[in-house]
Amino acid sequence: MKEEIISLGIETSCDETSVAILKNGREVLSNIIDSQIKIHEKFGGVVPEIASRNHVEAISNVTNKALEEANVSFKDINLISCTYGPGLVGALLVGVSYAKALSFALQKPLVAVNHIEGHIAANYITFKELEPPFLCLVISGGHTHLVHIKDYTEFEILGKTRDDAIGEAYDKVARIIGLEYPGGPKIDKLAKEGEANIELPETHFDNLDFSFSGIKTAVLNLYHKNPKTNKANLCASFEKASTNMLLRNTKLAIKQTGLKKLALAGGVSANSYIRQEFKKLEEELGIKVYYPNLQLCTDNAAMITSAGYYNYLKGNIAKMDLNAIPNLKIGG
Ligand code: KG4
Ligand code: ZN
Repeated sequence: MKEEIISLGIETSCDETSVAILKNGREVLSNIIDSQIKIHEKFGGVVPEIASRNHVEAISNVTNKALEEANVSFKDINLISCTYGPGLVGALLVGVSYAKALSFALQKPLVAVNHIEGHIAANYITFKELEPPFLCLVISGGHTHLVHIKDYTEFEILGKTRDDAIGEAYDKVARIIGLEYPGGPKIDKLAKEGEANIELPETHFDNLDFSFSGIKTAVLNLYHKNPKTNKANLCASFEKASTNMLLRNTKLAIKQTGLKKLALAGGVSANSYIRQEFKKLEEELGIKVYYPNLQLCTDNAAMITSAGYYNYLKGNIAKMDLNAIPNLKIGG
């Protein structure tokens, strides 16, 4: 019989303090997320120092809640995982230090998880049958990556943004037109009331890289020139043009790799227009399209715990000198 692994995972890379307990990498026993969004809202974005302080205050309570909800105690935990990058260094260090202390006190192995790998792993929790190889489009506040998932811990980056991440562009466009942080979900909602009738520039390169600073600047200039622009139409037009950029490169990557499975991941993959447009690729290209349950799209510890489990199976155990790496890359 396969050994049963109960793992505890920690995510503190940005403004969510989250702890999860999983059985064998895909079964979520608990996934507690303490979001600081309300605290950072008034500043229009995440303030790193405030994020770190709030992680310190929250982490013990969030851990206790995760154990309670999973109906397990520390002695039942076989494995500890934590995000060690990319992210805000002070925020990451809270989770890394806490995970190291738990690993040392419980005498259980520690696994260091790349946050982007975590976003990808959110799909394993939602789709129990999903296995590599597949293509993953990671779209979040900090990343826009097209990744070939060759195996659970083997990745090749096919394309990435040269400037702003798509989520960053969503949040900045929202701010320009007076919507609160985080703007992505607000644009998603408002766009439904509008029509995509404003022409915005789509940037393409001769490889699979992305760029979202051009479209962001175009919205800024357009809105400053004409503050009476219909906001709903502007949101719908921004969504359409930015999704076109994502679709173009993803289709090219599918053609180039011949992969038949495409997964979306990251906070922006919660967007309803993006989900709708990517689902159409199933018929158009004869592939299967996956996206995580909505609550697993944005930052959470369940996805980190899942990625940690697969790293543990590969023998990737961290040492006690583990440090946070704010600009950690994926795929070497
Ligand atoms: O993955 P995530 O929680 O954090 C990072 O790792 O960056 O992503 C947060 C981003 C924010 O930019 C937020 O505006 C965006 O995801 N987001 C959305 C939606 N929900 C969250 N963007 C567009 N539509 C949404 N429904
Ligand atoms: Zn994230």
